[in-house]
Amino acid sequence: MSKAEPVRARHVAIIMDGNGRWAKKRLMPRALGHQRGVEAVRKVVRGAREMGLEALTLYAFSTENWRRPEEEVSDLMSLMKRFILSDLDEFAEAGVRLKIIGDYKAFKPDVVELVEKAIARTAGNSGTTLAVALNYGSQDEIARAATRAAAKGPITPETIAAELDTADLPPLDLLIRTSGEVRLSNFLLWQAAYAEMMFTDVLWPDFTAEHLRDALEAFTTRERRYGGR
Ligand code: FPP
Repeated sequence: MSKAEPVRARHVAIIMDGNGRWAKKRLMPRALGHQRGVEAVRKVVRGAREMGLEALTLYAFSTENWRRPEEEVSDLMSLMKRFILSDLDEFAEAGVRLKIIGDYKAFKPDVVELVEKAIARTAGNSGTTLAVALNYGSQDEIARAATRAAAKGPITPETIAAELDTADLPPLDLLIRTSGEVRLSNFLLWQAAYAEMMFTDVLWPDFTAEHLRDALEAFTTRERRYGGR
């Protein structure tokens, strides 16, 4: 592939990292960092919608996050619930489709019920898909997908991809991680095979729609080769 037309990103994923450090820098409790993190989520989802992104996948709770203190896990759960309760109307009206990747059924029944209601209410929307990763781990996702693929027939990259939690989303174009850490932390390992990666020092609560816009602009100038030349 030589000089190609600029390509717009269709699917962006974000590892939202740095809520704790944001709070620590201000001598505030971690819970407040997560709270400000939710405000950043709200702004970035609005931005993604306005920029016409087809899919935005956010890493909200990993399979490893259960190891955090019980109080923090419960803070994150209540923030998630409050976020759905406060923002669902806006999503529904703005054409956002909510999707969950990961094994969210392991959460408490009230969270599962709320999530399922939100999914059902936005299922017919055709604007941006907001895919929230809950109790998500990429290795777990691949193992589940491979098991399902094997039950149906031969295992190939295509038959596994068709069983991933993200099977109905466009291919991942761009993966962003905030807060200066440079690792994937078991997030979208399969989907990231050809994705562009961007790592920024900005802590998640400080991340804005403008940062997303800049990242999308930078993406269009990167030349992707998919292993060709
Ligand atoms: C990383 O910060 C962030 C998380 C583990 C959770 C991300 C969750 C949110 C932004 C809020 C809920 C999300 C939605 C979609 C409503 P950290 O605590 O690891 O920060 P640190 O590395 O600085 O300690």
